[in-house]
Amino acid sequence: AEYTTILSEVRGRVGWITLNRPEALNALNSVLVRELIDAALAFDASPEIGCIVITGSERAFAAGADIKEMADHSYAEMAVGGPFPGWGGFERMRTPVVAAVAGFALGGGCELAMMCDIILAADTAKFGQPEINLGVLPGFGGSQRLPRAIGSYKAAELVLTGRMMRADEAERSGLVSRVIPAAELLDETAQVAATIAAKSLPALYAAKDALQAAQEMPLSEGLRFERRAFAAAFATEDQKEGMRAFTEKREPNFTHR
Ligand code: HXC
Repeated sequence: AEYTTILSEVRGRVGWITLNRPEALNALNSVLVRELIDAALAFDASPEIGCIVITGSERAFAAGADIKEMADHSYAEMAVGGPFPGWGGFERMRTPVVAAVAGFALGGGCELAMMCDIILAADTAKFGQPEINLGVLPGFGGSQRLPRAIGSYKAAELVLTGRMMRADEAERSGLVSRVIPAAELLDETAQVAATIAAKSLPALYAAKDALQAAQEMPLSEGLRFERRAFAAAFATEDQKEGMRAFTEKREPNFTHR
């Protein structure tokens, strides 16, 4: 597909999406959102892809939803169309998604990162939900995912003051799994993504499914969900191969079946 606001590229079993509106610090306008979701869903539908990476530029992962585009929208325009359609599909993707964040990840940019499974941050990364400064509140899940990620009180402070948090604070809070020197962010991300993409695809799908269940289910239900998924993994050829390779002291050759 021809995209104007993102770059999309396959490297091995990893699908890379680079947000590319440098003139607006990758602000998420309706074209970018449509292209991002289209590219991500195409990767998700492909058995040749075992991990998706979403990244931006050195200056910005994304500085939020496009304020200039939405400034004059009415309630009806936001409620009926607006920037929301399509995100449900993005959130329901089965392929693991890694966000590689350098520079600003604000508002919808922070929320996009939180829709991913893993957040890797350059030491230049800055996270925040500054919507309150605009007279609104987070709209792409920030009021729900940030408290789950960093705890309700710290999330409240960020959402109610609109202040930004640097990479080291974001790591201490549990939002990002690793802080990486900016110059090494993409190489390090490529390694993490390739490590994931080499695993059995059915096992990755099941593991992501179970991790997402942990966000939504009470413990007892989540444990039953996991137990059934674990048993089901024994219906795959990759389980047989993975365990045989271990006993034969060799690397597994997963066929994703
Ligand atoms: C539209 C944006 C933008 C945005 C930056 N730009 N963020 N345009 N929407 N969210 C544009 C600027 O207008 C400017 O273009 C260019 O990008 C460079 O930005 P500067 O402000 O000149 O850069 P700098 O001084 O370095 O400041 C960087 C910044 C600041 C601190 C990130 O740009 C900023 O505060 N941006 C807005 C952040 C924000 O409020 N995000 C939340 C949005 S609401 P021009 O052409 O003017 O030079 C949101 C809701 C999500 O995300 C839910 C929706 C459903």
